[in-house]
Amino acid sequence: MKIAVIGADGQLGTDLCKVIPESERIPLTLKDIDITDFDSALNVLTRLTPDVVINTAAYHRVDDCEDNDLLAYKVNAHGARNLALACKLLNAALVHISTDYVFDGEKKSPYVEEDTPNPKTAYGISKLAGEEFIKYLWQKYFIIRTSGLYGVAGCLGKGGGNFVENMIKRQKEGQTIKVVDDEVLTPTYTFHLASQIEKLIKTDKYGLYHITNQGECSWWEYTVKIFEMLNIRVEVARTKASEYKTKANRPKYSVLENKRSKEIGLDIMPPWEVGLAEYLQEKGYKRVNS
Ligand SMILES: NC(=O)c1ccc[n+]([C@@H]2O[C@H](COP(=O)([O-])OP(=O)(O)OC[C@H]3O[C@@H](n4cnc5c(N)ncnc54)[C@H](OP(=O)(O)O)[C@@H]3O)[C@@H](O)[C@H]2O)c1
Repeated sequence: MKIAVIGADGQLGTDLCKVIPESERIPLTLKDIDITDFDSALNVLTRLTPDVVINTAAYHRVDDCEDNDLLAYKVNAHGARNLALACKLLNAALVHISTDYVFDGEKKSPYVEEDTPNPKTAYGISKLAGEEFIKYLWQKYFIIRTSGLYGVAGCLGKGGGNFVENMIKRQKEGQTIKVVDDEVLTPTYTFHLASQIEKLIKTDKYGLYHITNQGECSWWEYTVKIFEMLNIRVEVARTKASEYKTKANRPKYSVLENKRSKEIGLDIMPPWEVGLAEYLQEKGYKRVNS
């Protein structure tokens, strides 16, 4: 099986390349393929003849998407459309990574795949449009919605860091650490997500999947856990989303239930605390408590 990984130097792409055997993977960065250009993307993929194309590429600076909605649409919606058409021509399965931000965050229990999306940000709207293009154009797809990604490579689209590293940096620099306690998510370790995707694509159980680590926490609880695991005593102050103004209104509750992968007996995602401990270990931080 030949598996093209688009965004191979990104946070999730790097971990996908770790879990997919070298004999099967075809890593592609923006230098190799631009998903916003249909003709050249099709040319590249036609030459490589992959059986599966995994698209991790996105424009996902959530606040910037509010001002740059056309760019968000170009990458997140039209890019997904281009890949769906190319995959159809090549009879390749398409794996597309989507987001919890397709939901409005008003639900009080984990979102399942059957819940109706209602995005409240330009980013979420563009990602949902990408999902819709794929569903409309090509049936051999795995659309995977996930949440709160962090991985060893850092998020290229957000300047190379991730939330965990940002918090550790703030503590090292002696900055005040103040975090919202009224937005709830499931932090998800990209290595775990990549391992789950690698299992899923070996099946022909196409469709929409929610895939995150298990459990949930507020951003404040997440931050407290980071320092607890590192044995660092630091004050983590609580704040509210209403006091921490951002351009985009993030969902208050964006926990996803891995319902469909549980139904097909394939859910291997560990609790989010396990993901965090493994990440800190992998990054080489000392004194990790699990
Ligand atoms: N990060 C999160 O918290 C989060 C949460 C939920 C869902 N997601 C989704 O998860 C996916 C992966 O996120 P990530 O954190 O791994 O992202 P990332 O680190 O920013 O990686 C994205 C990769 O896509 C590449 N790329 C950007 N535009 C491209 C284009 N037009 N054509 C080809 N490649 C392009 C980037 O290359 P350059 O860096 O060279 O531009 C980068 O290698 C995204 O679809 C995102 O929407 C992320």
